[in-house]
Amino acid sequence: MPELRVAVLGAAGYAGGELLRLLLQHPEVVELRAFSASHAGRGLAEAHPALAHLPAGAFEAPDPAAAASWAEVLFLALPHGRSQELMGTVLERDPALVIDLAADFRIRDDGLYRRHYGEHAAPGLRQQFVYALADVLGRRLEGRRRLAVPGCFATATLLGLWPFAAAGFLEAPPVVFAVTGSTGSGAVPRETTHHPARANNFFGYAAEGHRHEAEIAEQLATAGSGGSAAAVRLLVHSAPLVRGIHATTLFRPGQPLGDPVELLDGAWAGRPFVRVVRKPPRVEAVAGTNFAHVHAAVRGSEIVVYVAIDNLVKGTAGQAVQAMNLALGLDETLGLGFPGLYPV
Ligand SMILES: NC(=O)c1ccc[n+]([C@@H]2O[C@H](COP(=O)([O-])OP(=O)(O)OC[C@H]3O[C@@H](n4cnc5c(N)ncnc54)[C@H](OP(=O)(O)O)[C@@H]3O)[C@@H](O)[C@H]2O)c1
Repeated sequence: MPELRVAVLGAAGYAGGELLRLLLQHPEVVELRAFSASHAGRGLAEAHPALAHLPAGAFEAPDPAAAASWAEVLFLALPHGRSQELMGTVLERDPALVIDLAADFRIRDDGLYRRHYGEHAAPGLRQQFVYALADVLGRRLEGRRRLAVPGCFATATLLGLWPFAAAGFLEAPPVVFAVTGSTGSGAVPRETTHHPARANNFFGYAAEGHRHEAEIAEQLATAGSGGSAAAVRLLVHSAPLVRGIHATTLFRPGQPLGDPVELLDGAWAGRPFVRVVRKPPRVEAVAGTNFAHVHAAVRGSEIVVYVAIDNLVKGTAGQAVQAMNLALGLDETLGLGFPGLYPV
């Protein structure tokens, strides 16, 4: 199919902006329309200044039905809850590929979804979606038409733990200490993302449990962790970073596993965007890129796993474009091979 017509809903947000940056430079995207309620009629660079250097047009007023009728690939970059309200209308128009960046369609199990998010407006549509963890699924995404892009904390956690779960080593619930940059909370400033509250600060939140625990638990069970991952604990923190997720996970393997780096090397061999590094990774090496850096070490009777990603690229828009490439049978690296900036 390539030579794609692509539309983005929620295009003025941070995830939407990152999608525009990647799609405007994607070799197979011939037409791109950006829909935004807050910026309709204004140039793309008014919301996303760095796009001033690309040949870009203006935002259009949101019309999900028209976008879904016109586009071959439709991305939804909306706050949680909005995609489930719109998805019936979107799917009636039957675009070839729909990619949702929110949490609305990530979880298959009804009870699990309800426990973490409450009632769903379109529960019957959830089973049409695949959890598009692109680096794990790879070519298994080919031909899939409805993709739910994993959350940023979940992506970082799963890229570190998946190889251990798949090899049967995750016999006790893992504990994840994860840190995010301020763009993880979107473009609208809040008390916890406002610059003075964030620039020289560090704090934990969601002490009672973070919603991404639901998708991590469900996916680790799929990977082969048995029931142990159901009790995964995700301890989240806000750091004085703009971009980036750093996740450190501790788990007890249940049986000796030898060198964990060797296990990671084997699991990620041939996958273009996951790099197994020889020491704990740093956010500065992946910021602005679609790469994940992963490392692990033995710590007494436990294993410690480190992962660093960019929340807006690997943690959302980059993974979404990689999943698009895979779903359409394209080279999965198309439009995504660029390095980051250093220093950040
Ligand atoms: N930020 C991250 O690092 C990250 C990582 C993983 C996943 N995600 C997911 O990606 C999605 C977008 O996140 P974001 O960080 O880009 O958020 P954001 O910056 O707040 O942008 C969301 C966009 O949705 C639109 N919007 C806001 N409120 C709306 C409403 N009530 N009804 C309809 N549209 C509304 C707005 O777009 P317009 O004004 O342009 O219409 C807004 O720009 C979320 O579901 C988020 O969980 C984000």
